[in-house]
Formats: sequence, C-alpha cells, structure tokens
Amino acid sequence: MINILEMRNTHFSYPDGTPALQDIDLIVKEGEFLGILGGNGSGKTTLLKILNGLLKTTKGEVFLEENNIKSISKDALFRKVCTCFQNPDDQLFSSTVGEDIAFGPANMGLSKEEVKRRVCDALEAVEMADFADKVIHNLSFGQKKRACLAGVLAMNPKVMLLDEPTSCLDPAGVSAIMRLLRKLNKEEGITMIMATHSVDLVPLFIDRVVILNKGKIMLDGEPEEVFSRAEVIREAKLRLPRIGHLFEILKKKDGLDFDNIPLTIGEAREEIKNILSR
Ligand SMILES: Nc1ncnc2c1ncn2[C@@H]1O[C@H](COP(=O)(O)OP(=O)(O)OP(=O)(O)O)[C@@H](O)[C@H]1O
Ligand SMILES: [Mg+2]
Repeated sequence: MINILEMRNTHFSYPDGTPALQDIDLIVKEGEFLGILGGNGSGKTTLLKILNGLLKTTKGEVFLEENNIKSISKDALFRKVCTCFQNPDDQLFSSTVGEDIAFGPANMGLSKEEVKRRVCDALEAVEMADFADKVIHNLSFGQKKRACLAGVLAMNPKVMLLDEPTSCLDPAGVSAIMRLLRKLNKEEGITMIMATHSVDLVPLFIDRVVILNKGKIMLDGEPEEVFSRAEVIREAKLRLPRIGHLFEILKKKDGLDFDNIPLTIGEAREEIKNILSR
C-alpha cells in the first residue's frame, strides 16, 4: 500500500503565534480508516486543514501519494482530498441543498446526467433524498452536517477528511453515517481520516487511532493498544470507551480477571460469557 498522505516533521503556528501543531510525523496508508482524537484545541481541525492544503505548514513537508503538496495544483488536491468541515456553515454556500452538492462534481466537468446521478446518490446515502430543493438556510444543524457529507460523497474522492462528522446527529444518524463511511472505506478503498471526540465509536469502526494533545501526537496505534494507555488518554482530555471503562473498574476494584479489556458490546458479551462459564 502506498503512503497516500504523509506529514514529515510538521509544525504549524497561527499568525497570532498560537503553536497549534508541533513535531507531527504521520504516515497514512491508502485504504486506512484513521481516527484523530484529542480534546478541544488539541489541533485536530488544524491537522486536517494542513492535509487538505488550506493551511501551509510553518515547518516541515506534506506529501500526497509521495508528491510534495506544494507541487500539486489546488484543483488536483481538492479533487483527491475532500473535507467535510466541522462547522457546516464553513462549507455550504449555495442556496439549495441540491445546488450545493452539485457544485463540486459540476466543476470537475462531469456531464449533467452524471452530476444529477451523483447528487441523488449522495442525498440518498445520507437519508435526505427529498431535500434537493430545500433551502440550506432552513435546515436543522444535523441536516446541514448530512448535506456537507453528501457534498463530499458526490466528489468520490480518494481521501475523505472528516471533522467531527457525527456531532449533532441523532443516534440512528450516527450509526447510519458511520456504517456508510466504513462501507466506502472497505468496499471502495476510500481512505478515511476522521477527527472526533466520540471515543465509543472508535473500536466499532476505526482501524487506527492517533491521540493529539496540545498539538503533539501522544499515541498512534490500533484501538486496543491505544486504549490500554488509560493515563495518557485521560491526560489528553479523553476517556476510555464506556465498555472499556466498566471493565477497567471490574478489574481494578472488584478483582475480576479478564484476558482482554473489551471495548465494544460484542467483545464484552464474549468476555462475560467466558467468566460465567468458568
Ligand atoms: N484562526 C486561528 N487563529 C489563532 N489560533 C487558532 C486559530 N484557529 C485555531 N486556533 C488555535 O489553535 C489550537 C488548535 O485548534 P484546533 O481548532 O485545531 O483544535 P481542535 O482539536 O480541532 O479543537 P475542537 O475539538 O474544539 O474542534 C487551539 O489552541 C486554537 O485556539
Ligand atoms: Mg476542531
């Protein structure tokens, strides 16, 4: 698998002097589903904006498919790496939902029929099939988040950068969107890089996690590995997934012995059945 994105010794400070990212070395392989976790202000959004070229590093280099992004045209970069922004009002600018989603594909020079098909498919995927003519201004916040995601889906990019895509979605919406992202990742090989605080989603959907704290990478690995470092997780203003926390308490305070600390309901179910059958 090629390195689809790479950050090499990257630093970024905002013009007012805020050091938002420091010493970031990160390689993302094609087809990975990577979670970027960290508390408020830890640098998640900044990191995504470095990866999509919206912000330029203060120091260090960024590579897309092993080419320095400085040598790639903005158009080519935006076509391959699409971002679903944290705040939908930063992303949506047309008057209706359908027009907004059509904008990207139309700019790629696709035929009218193809653009229409992509808009319909994308709206269906986010369960907003009837919303094409709806005025964006009148949407609820969760509907705006879905519309943003549809805009990214319609671009059919190689990499999706998702900044808190599930915040403000109802629980059914969270599961549906995460299942959709996972399907696109596994079946179509789209690389997913998702910033989130939703630790409970991680072991269910995400293959690799990076923990950011004060602009630095504290941990990088598979969810089981990363969540076994509870003290670092808490220092980064995060917590263990609820299930993992429960089993940590059962182990430490109640002396129950587990082979593994489960992180999902499915894993917990197996662990509990094991204990009961002993
Ligand atoms: N335009 C800006 N000018 C100055 N400082 C900024 C700017 N944008 C962000 N920052 C600062 O950079 C740091 C990282 O911010 P960033 O938005 O990347 O955090 P985040 O991890 O995405 O947080 P959240 O979970 O709240 O979305 C914070 O200290 C923030 O105050
Ligand atoms: Mg953010």
